[in-house]
Amino acid sequence: MTQFWDGRAKTLEDQAALPIANPVEMGQPDLEAAVASLAAIPEYEREFQEVFGRPPNGQDLVRALASYERTLTSSETPDLTNFKDDDFHNIGVLIVRHHVVPLAREAEKLVDSGNAADVDRAAIGTDMSALGRFLVTKKEPDIASFKTPGLRNVLVTGPYFHDGSHPTLWDVLDHYNKGAGSQDPWLDQDIRPLGLQESELNDLVAFMASLTSDAYRAQGEQELARQRALSRTDRPYRDTRRAFGRRPATFH
Ligand code: HEM
Repeated sequence: MTQFWDGRAKTLEDQAALPIANPVEMGQPDLEAAVASLAAIPEYEREFQEVFGRPPNGQDLVRALASYERTLTSSETPDLTNFKDDDFHNIGVLIVRHHVVPLAREAEKLVDSGNAADVDRAAIGTDMSALGRFLVTKKEPDIASFKTPGLRNVLVTGPYFHDGSHPTLWDVLDHYNKGAGSQDPWLDQDIRPLGLQESELNDLVAFMASLTSDAYRAQGEQELARQRALSRTDRPYRDTRRAFGRRPATFH
């Protein structure tokens, strides 16, 4: 299963290694420098010996991180769907703000250079992050496509979308309700105005809130109250006229 919003890491082990040396994340010079810091701490030295039978090293470090990440599911409902499709879509998040075509050309060159660390830096630290999965595949239909995140515990994982641009679940629904991005030639064909009433939006938020694990119950209740209060005064993405308007002509 691919990792990151644009799917540029193939396994959790790859994913775990990249942020360690990324200057806007942990900022270590490289994986070996992180290993050296860990090796200097007696508890880590001892635990690596105990688990792996050898001193701290890069490969075991990313294995340990990935194993930990694999435990981070909502454990009480392991067999139910996680409300995701393991696919990538362009749902029109703020794409018009970016000059996508020149960005795509630049990205193509960067990807061709084959330097994974440079691609990683561009994907996180520059405007190119708007290109999403395209940065990995260089296929035009993947422009501005991002991985569909699971909705388990979504109430407590805001702000939303890959760029954190939508502060509340009401904002997310305003986005879907108006069929955002209709001017975007690469928009997913399942995105269109929904014409949902305010009471229906509230029901959908309640449904998403119900996907919160017991472990986050108190935090969830607090967060729901916070988001509800915010949504009463601030709905920056609401466009009722578009939500109930005719479905605009698309490029499909
Ligand atoms: C009314 C129906 C839908 C609801 C309630 C819904 C809910 C959500 C929520 C809450 C998020 C933000 C998650 C997060 O940031 O952690 C999200 C993101 C996303 N959803 Fe949906 N979704 C709906 C329909 C769709 C459809 C039809 C598609 C595919 C065509 C889709 C694909 C995605 C993708 C790709 C993202 C990530 C987008 C990005 O970060 O740029 N969703 N959805």
